[in-house]
Amino acid sequence: MVGILEDKDRIFTNLYGFQDWTLEGAKKRGAWNATKDMLDLGRDWIISNVKNSGLRGRGGAGFSTGLKWSFMPKEVKDRPHYLVVNADESEPGTCKDREIMRHDPQLLIEGCLIASFAMQAHACYIYLRGEYVLERERMEAAVKQAYEARLIGKNNVHGWDFDVYIHHGAGAYICGEETALLESLEGKKGQPRLKPPFPAGAGLYGCPTTVNNVESIAVVGTILRRGAEWFAGFGRPNNTGTKIMSISGHVNRPCNVEEAMSIPLRQLLEDHCGGVRGGCGRRRCAPRSRDGSGGSDPAPARRRRRRGRRWCGPRSGSRPPAAGRSRTDRPRRSPSAPAPATSSRCPRGTACTGHSSHACRNS
Ligand SMILES: Cc1cc2nc3c(=O)[nH]c(=O)nc-3n(C[C@H](O)[C@H](O)[C@H](O)COP(=O)(O)O)c2cc1C
Repeated sequence: MVGILEDKDRIFTNLYGFQDWTLEGAKKRGAWNATKDMLDLGRDWIISNVKNSGLRGRGGAGFSTGLKWSFMPKEVKDRPHYLVVNADESEPGTCKDREIMRHDPQLLIEGCLIASFAMQAHACYIYLRGEYVLERERMEAAVKQAYEARLIGKNNVHGWDFDVYIHHGAGAYICGEETALLESLEGKKGQPRLKPPFPAGAGLYGCPTTVNNVESIAVVGTILRRGAEWFAGFGRPNNTGTKIMSISGHVNRPCNVEEAMSIPLRQLLEDHCGGVRGGCGRRRCAPRSRDGSGGSDPAPARRRRRRGRRWCGPRSGSRPPAAGRSRTDRPRRSPSAPAPATSSRCPRGTACTGHSSHACRNS
């Protein structure tokens, strides 16, 4: 068997877009199946099952999704509740959310309805990064199909009035941070807010809001259909479930693949990516510190001895340190030297607040 996860246990069965992405195709793969039954079981049932599944946010911080939902006020008072889906996906090397939006958008919309119902939100905003034009068009088409089939909207078949809005960002990396995203969604400059207050207390337009990653929301329908224990059966305690992994860099076959959380890195690379380019040899995987030296490695002497061997740090595209010169004493830009021009390089002009970032695809 290739990898750990069997095909029958994959949530994203159209990850590579070989099948029909439309509502009809999605329904054949199981989306929107028994969604009304889930809502009929009530908010507490949904939240406790998401908690029990061990699902952790797939946007980076890995916070328990069910627990986060439980932070929302139990009753709606004078302010409406909102769900905001973070589809900014600007982290270099990450390209999983776009595949969900391209090929399985109905799973995301179904998850939005379930999550919003659990948090008593009647509106959800999906915030897409500026460069995701195809994904926005696909999401808009999928939302339209869901409205037409009365799966969402006023007086829909699920009995919970619910609207989905697609919002296109301007292409700034920082807008992936949830409070900067909320600022941007409100039409302001995308800059992070001070916390507290946290979004569950005062988020979008000052109202109780939960921000979740695309994948965190898109898996919810399948988790509830198949059971929390099923999802919790993959991975390891405190880190359960399946996950789409994006692998790029020095591997033979870069890919996105849904795998169990516990898969060893070596197996992931060898089974799904055809191994490391040029063979593994003495390559190692190490956390990267700001100076690029490999971070917490406690043995600088060992590192010095390694010089002369092929450098195999984790940063793809980087080269070995020049002989006799460490990676830290390379010439740096003098503080008095002018900073590289950024705004002039960004065709989006003032609308892009993140063009100085390496992640700005406009430059
Ligand atoms: C600088 C920065 C960029 C971020 N970019 C993203 C992003 O592109 N997508 C995302 O889902 N979360 C991103 N996050 C994390 C979000 O702030 C937030 O934790 C996440 O959307 C919560 O969703 P989750 O609980 O489902 O993981 C970023 C955080 C920081 C600090």
